[in-house]
Amino acid sequence: MKLPFPLYTESATSVATEVDALFTVWAVISIFFSLLIAAFILYFAVRYRRRHVDQVGEREKEALWLEITWSVIPLFIMLAMFAWGTRVFVKAYRAPKGALEYSSIGRQWMWKFQHPQGQREINTLHVPKGVAIKLNLNSEDVIHSFYVPAFRIKQDAVPGKDTSLWFKADKTGTFHLFCAEYCGAEHSRMIGSVIVMEPAEYQAWLVNGPPAGKTPVVAGKELFQTLACATCHRNGGGRIQRGPALEGLFGHPVRLADGSSLVADESYVRESILNPQAKLVAGWQPVMPTFQGQISEEQLSQLLVYVKSLGGMKAAQNGESKP
Ligand code: CUA
Repeated sequence: MKLPFPLYTESATSVATEVDALFTVWAVISIFFSLLIAAFILYFAVRYRRRHVDQVGEREKEALWLEITWSVIPLFIMLAMFAWGTRVFVKAYRAPKGALEYSSIGRQWMWKFQHPQGQREINTLHVPKGVAIKLNLNSEDVIHSFYVPAFRIKQDAVPGKDTSLWFKADKTGTFHLFCAEYCGAEHSRMIGSVIVMEPAEYQAWLVNGPPAGKTPVVAGKELFQTLACATCHRNGGGRIQRGPALEGLFGHPVRLADGSSLVADESYVRESILNPQAKLVAGWQPVMPTFQGQISEEQLSQLLVYVKSLGGMKAAQNGESKP
């Protein structure tokens, strides 16, 4: 059925189509029951109205079957809505393995992007069509929110926390990007666009576009040297080992000094850089200095990418993988 006017804003991902279908069905169900209940209220108000001043109301007979029916039917409708909603949510917010990872840092009042191949952009992000893209979000100051209506995705960028979102655009074009969290005087001007290109065009853009600079992995590796992380965290090399080796760390379990254990993820690595004593690895002395306030959000995310690249998840091999 083709409507004479668009019901929804343009959509450019398969997730967007599913979100719209879900929304339509929920809206239809809600409108149907609202009208049904309103109609019954009106009907009963007229049918059982008071006919004389001295009329006294009388109690209706109980109808158990009726009460069970109107409880059980909505229960199953709700459960079905919940199950469908959960499925779409999980699909929309869990990035598939092997997604290309881009860095995306929000600050007052702009979005800074970096491609896995090293190119940087501000407020405009070029991406290839048909490829799963994962954006690792961070903020340098306050909470911002990355929102692309055509993709039906929105995710907060929270200072001090690693969040991410993903999308796979199935349409080329230029799509609005908004900051969807009030973040100060120029929040309303913190806008941009996501430009979806044919993969071949994207490759050409990468070659002819902004100078590539260093990839995040390479920049992270250099920081690892210049911040002297390498003096303690290098495997072997003849030096006295003062900190745990980071090879094969990411995504794997770590045993801590207090006897507990956890899986090394982004927030653990971040915390260990900024507040090394918080979760000390079993068998090591609390000798690492804090890097809180000494490195920028961008440097932190480069270090994270580098630590990821040292082992663990395949998707983390940023820069080395081809799109
Ligand atoms: Cu950034 Cu609103």
